[in-house]
Amino acid sequence: MEYKQLEHLLHNMSLEEKVGQMVQLPAGMIAKEGVITGQIDNLHLPKEQKALIGSVLGLTGAKDLREMQENFMAEHPHHIPLLLMYDVINGMETIFPIPLGQGCTFSPELVEQAARVAAKEATASGLHVTFSPMLDLVRDARWGRVMESTGEDPYLNAELGKAMVRGYQGSGKGETLDLTKEGNIAGCVKHFAAYGAPLGGREYENVELSERTLREDYFPAYQAAIEEGCVMVMTSFNTLNRIPSSGNKWLMRKVLREEMGFEGLLISDYSAVDEMINHGIAADSREAAKLAILAGVDMDMVSNAYIRYLAELVRSGEVEERLVDEGCMRVLKLKNDLGLFENPFKDGSVEKEQEVLLCREHRSLARDMAAKSFVLLKNEDILPLKKNANSKVALIGPYADTVEMYGAWSFPKKPELSVTIKQGMEAKGVELVAAKGCFMQDEDKQAKVGQKDTYTKEELEALMKQAVEAAVSAETVVLCLGEHREYTGEGGSRADITLPKHQMELLHKVAKVNKNIVTVVFSGRPVVIPEVVENSKAVLMVWMPGTEGGNAVADVLYGDVMPEGKLSMCLPRSVGQVPIFYNKFRTGRPNEEGTRVGFIHGYIDESIYPLYPFGYGLTYTSFGYSEVTLSKETMAKEEILTATVTVSNTGKREAVETVQLYLTDVKGSVVRPVKMLKGFQKVSLKPGECKRVQFEITEEMLRFYTIDMEYVSEPGEFYVWIGSDSDTKNKASFRLV
Ligand code: NOJ
Repeated sequence: MEYKQLEHLLHNMSLEEKVGQMVQLPAGMIAKEGVITGQIDNLHLPKEQKALIGSVLGLTGAKDLREMQENFMAEHPHHIPLLLMYDVINGMETIFPIPLGQGCTFSPELVEQAARVAAKEATASGLHVTFSPMLDLVRDARWGRVMESTGEDPYLNAELGKAMVRGYQGSGKGETLDLTKEGNIAGCVKHFAAYGAPLGGREYENVELSERTLREDYFPAYQAAIEEGCVMVMTSFNTLNRIPSSGNKWLMRKVLREEMGFEGLLISDYSAVDEMINHGIAADSREAAKLAILAGVDMDMVSNAYIRYLAELVRSGEVEERLVDEGCMRVLKLKNDLGLFENPFKDGSVEKEQEVLLCREHRSLARDMAAKSFVLLKNEDILPLKKNANSKVALIGPYADTVEMYGAWSFPKKPELSVTIKQGMEAKGVELVAAKGCFMQDEDKQAKVGQKDTYTKEELEALMKQAVEAAVSAETVVLCLGEHREYTGEGGSRADITLPKHQMELLHKVAKVNKNIVTVVFSGRPVVIPEVVENSKAVLMVWMPGTEGGNAVADVLYGDVMPEGKLSMCLPRSVGQVPIFYNKFRTGRPNEEGTRVGFIHGYIDESIYPLYPFGYGLTYTSFGYSEVTLSKETMAKEEILTATVTVSNTGKREAVETVQLYLTDVKGSVVRPVKMLKGFQKVSLKPGECKRVQFEITEEMLRFYTIDMEYVSEPGEFYVWIGSDSDTKNKASFRLV
């Protein structure tokens, strides 16, 4: 449809019809039951009002969505199609590793491909929009939703966020954005802004950040995804500077629209408009609606506000109709950009679903990506495992034979088609004895929703006994431990991020009879595992690896695929260290040793360093780094400096290393971070092979918000670090003049 026709349509719509477009309701309210993630509001709305809404969330399936769309359009006075949205976070039916694991791949290419697959499956299932990418920077592992972010670094998050947008919207490799094309789905950057910084890691908690930190660390990933062309943005639940995002005019109208140049559709988070009543800045739903529209929220996700009060607010003169026209037009425009006026079902088709969902090609990518998201933390000459006859493995633990490895934000309709670790190991043809050992959850700490583990003391003891017997009978133990997937995700904050106590008991029992332990850790966050590391010869973090988790774990354990993941968040030594992140600010009383003695930075009873730093990860070979050489010692603002290292494979197996570039601004007009990631490159090296790796450093990479809040660089000394993780000591320096 031409833009003119859209304007004509808008012109012919009544105020109620226009407001209707700005409302999203859950599928359960107008069709069959769908997935609903928040509190279900009891919106007792008249049928005529529901018949005017613009969008539905939470239902998938080509057949059901087609039926719903047909019925809905037949009733609508202008036959305007619904926009159909869903949380496709790390895959639709083929489940990829959780975003935190995807972050550990440090691979924009893989992340783009995974998003592409998710888009193909989601559109075949009849969807138009996915509520992804989630680009909240995360520094506090207690927060349940760290699983949904690619991690703690602004640069990495921005690179991977852009990759997701390209994958979803089909705008990779120089292609121009065309959402009508088959397999393209609209993306939605969320949660704007800084939802990832709730105080204490507590879900739905407020956020207190300085504007500098907000702009320098939290905004870049959202901005990058918007610049990459993402067509939707979602507000966040939290406050910033004590203003809830959905009513924050400065954030939405000034930062998002004016500064970041976002022209797409802004949707609130689930019932976030009405939640301004609980926040105490709106007396009622009517006032909440007014605050939201004035702030620039185009679509109200599931609250009472717009659908009940927006038209009235216009009639009473409290809200200009122009604002409704603006919001409604953005909805119509997105529908038009998706081609829904011509084809309201987009790619939704039962045949297509059968063809693409969980197809061989998608599964193979999921397997590859999962393997590359695993982070090898420790390996004392035990991995890779051997496949020969006298190397029997005891596969033990509650994660040894379960398909529940897809994380908190995946809703596969056929989870039984996922591969368990046991199945993956058996497929390698090795001798195996399996034992569950204990239940996933302790009885006193059950997951927020879903399956509970109920058992007697005797049942638990019997499982432990079997596990110990299995461990005695085998050469090596592969111990699969971790947190339940429902210990993470929305509403999944934890104050204690260690592993369940029965699982730790199992570890100690097994360690008493067999020292050759390889522990595979499943989690949706950095968990506190020093005891696990101490009692294992090797530790592999596999996050929530998805549909092909079992095959991918077996591939890496047996060395058919070399591990190459690098931590996208630091792993803390203890909960008390949290929030802990590598790019922290410099202190007046530095503490190189990390353990405090006297009046210096840190704790009396704990190191200031994490157990493993951001960017860390081993493989089955070793790498050597030459010193960093720079093309010049001084750099003028318009010049480009080149930093070079030679990386060599000093071990016996071909493998990939992620070479990381960090910069430090030695002195600034405000305190600067100790180090900042500014680039990374993957290099594949054969044993004995060396490769030169070069990074370009431009003045733009040195900019920050100065004392005058100007985003510029300041002349002076900079350090350039190139190494294998954020703890690298491999440094050179130059001066910006
Ligand atoms: C609330 C979550 O915060 C958001 O991320 C999600 O997209 C919506 N619910 C819809 O499910």
